[in-house]
Amino acid sequence: MRKTIIAGNWKMYKTIKEGQELVNALNRELYNLQNLDIVVCPPYTLLSCLADMLTESNIALGAQDLFWEEEGAFTGEVSAQMLKDAGCQFVIIGHSERRQYFAETNGSVNKKLKAALKHALTPIVCIGETLKEREANSTFKVLEGQLTGGLSGINQEEAARIVIAYEPVWAIGTGKTATSAQAEEAHKYIRDLLAKLYDLETAESIRLQYGGSVKPENISELMQQPDIDGALVGGSSLRADSFGDIARKAAGVLKS
Ligand code: 13P
Repeated sequence: MRKTIIAGNWKMYKTIKEGQELVNALNRELYNLQNLDIVVCPPYTLLSCLADMLTESNIALGAQDLFWEEEGAFTGEVSAQMLKDAGCQFVIIGHSERRQYFAETNGSVNKKLKAALKHALTPIVCIGETLKEREANSTFKVLEGQLTGGLSGINQEEAARIVIAYEPVWAIGTGKTATSAQAEEAHKYIRDLLAKLYDLETAESIRLQYGGSVKPENISELMQQPDIDGALVGGSSLRADSFGDIARKAAGVLKS
């Protein structure tokens, strides 16, 4: 049994006051929800103050990125240790927006992944194809490259601690969700590949999230797919009502 994981990627939204209001509302909405991981990933500026508000909560804190060095002259960067110190348990790595706008590569994803694992942060590694790649029928090839490159040198025990988010780039922020069949097809491919890279037991234990225009209206159908274990939510995570609905609906889907 894989534990459902619903994470909100706030991207570059929310001031400190707005973030505190959202977390207050989420604490009220979700305090009695159990048996799933709920994570919020705000911008760096909100991490430490939200950590204080989440100490007694069933909601965990994650960051949206990290740098692989421990410390040093790396202006603008934040290390895994600093994220732990600020109260993070999770960290998103290799989001498509970072690949697209900030020159993130499978190589940098790999270094960040190793740094996160070393400091006992749970990494949420994002992979996914662009529309052009899907139309050229190279979705699986792209996923294979991102997965084998990103996870290079990661052993079985480490792999079991990773969450992988399949986020087709064409479905992010566009309102166009992948159909549940398209999402399941990609998730199944990823799990089969993990079984080849590691073994069946490890592949079966790794949680796979879907991301891309997840809303209260489509979460239940997505969650009913056998290889979808949760969601990485962008736009709909910015409001307590929609993120709350998504978490509750996801928690309501019993998986075998
Ligand atoms: P949207 O839910 O806004 O499409 O964003 C998805 C995403 O990028 C989550 O990381």
